[in-house]
Amino acid sequence: MRMYDLIQKKKQGASLSKEEISWMVKEYTLGAIPDYQMSAMMMAVCFQGMDEAETLQLTLSMRDSGDVLDLSSISGIKVDKHSTGGVGDKTSLVLAPMVAALGIPVAKMSGRGLGHTGGTIDKLECFPGFTTSLSQEQFIENVNRIKLSIMGQTANLAPADKKLYALRDVTATVNQMSLIASSIMSKKLAAGSDAIVLDVKTGNGAFMQEESDAFALAREMVRIGNGAGKRTVAVVTDMDQPLGCAVGNALEVKEAILSLNGQGPSDFMEVVYALGEQMVLLGGKARTQQEARALLSDAVKSGAALKKLAEFVEAQGGDGSYVYHPELLPTASHILEVKSSEEGFVTRILAEEIGLASLILGGGRSTKDSEIDLSVGVLLKKKRGCQVAYGDTLATIYANNRNQALEAYGKIVNAYEIGEAPPEASMIKGILTTP
Ligand code: URA
Repeated sequence: MRMYDLIQKKKQGASLSKEEISWMVKEYTLGAIPDYQMSAMMMAVCFQGMDEAETLQLTLSMRDSGDVLDLSSISGIKVDKHSTGGVGDKTSLVLAPMVAALGIPVAKMSGRGLGHTGGTIDKLECFPGFTTSLSQEQFIENVNRIKLSIMGQTANLAPADKKLYALRDVTATVNQMSLIASSIMSKKLAAGSDAIVLDVKTGNGAFMQEESDAFALAREMVRIGNGAGKRTVAVVTDMDQPLGCAVGNALEVKEAILSLNGQGPSDFMEVVYALGEQMVLLGGKARTQQEARALLSDAVKSGAALKKLAEFVEAQGGDGSYVYHPELLPTASHILEVKSSEEGFVTRILAEEIGLASLILGGGRSTKDSEIDLSVGVLLKKKRGCQVAYGDTLATIYANNRNQALEAYGKIVNAYEIGEAPPEASMIKGILTTP
């Protein structure tokens, strides 16, 4: 096979065969196909697209380019959850212990990632001693024992995707639906769970800002998951304001603990329950959404989910007592209140701007090697639909540097859109169980 011929074929709008895609991914990962040829192929895909069979084959080839976790020694149906990413998204910290408390095994790989705040791993490292550097044996042993473990992504997870994504990033070829869906799903499938719940976010702070694009991505990923033999459900959720009130690592951990104590912000809990219901259904512990919700709600009310979080933190070397004493978590030295200069109702909070405020404060990474400040962030006091009067506090900034706090102030003021009436808005835009 020659890469030149495959590029030519795709340029003319024909479909590539399974063998051609498999060969191309293998040779590219090995370094036998140069970046300039793969760039041409990616651009041809951007113009000509890929059909369902091609998209599935690309995903499977990227999945198989590295380690594929074997979780067969964990009993029960392993259900994973993935979010396309948003601002204030601490869902995993709450959902994983809730679901595990019901006896559904949660064997999760998470990342740090670039972004406005750290990833799930950074947030969990607010608990002193906590580590996700576990051997595969420890990881599996923990899930069998307490139903929950989170490990860092292995270096050799879907290496073809890692290489291809870096190339797409610098050749303006990220934004193609089949390429995005196969990239995300190759990593999820390599992580080895039996079923997958996807949280596809839409709105200002989301990768897919337009709702129609979010649904298209959701459909594509559900199709791939099911095509790969894993039951897959996607929930399309709102990101036209940050999720919950806390944005910033330790602040988000505190909010997660509050949520497990039954005091979570309503918008956040709506998303947690919508995703949790699907996980419980896929995990075979309930037959209806109502039944699943009742089980999840009981796990919170009884304190079982909070206890599961403490148990999980301890099992991975962390100090679980912080779960019962969140006041011990890192706190910033400066507090600054952001005041409203308008009256009316909050109609939108540009999540992207709030995320940037957190980044300015040091709560996120702008490069792979940046140090992260776990204590800083933003706590929103007024959310969408709230009435505000002149001089009301919209948000509180937690900072360790006054100049950074002032810079973040401007971003937060810009993020708030105030109108004359509260908007109609729903957190859950739709649930896709089949493509
Ligand atoms: N996230 C991914 O993992 N891959 C993409 O292509 C886009 C977002």
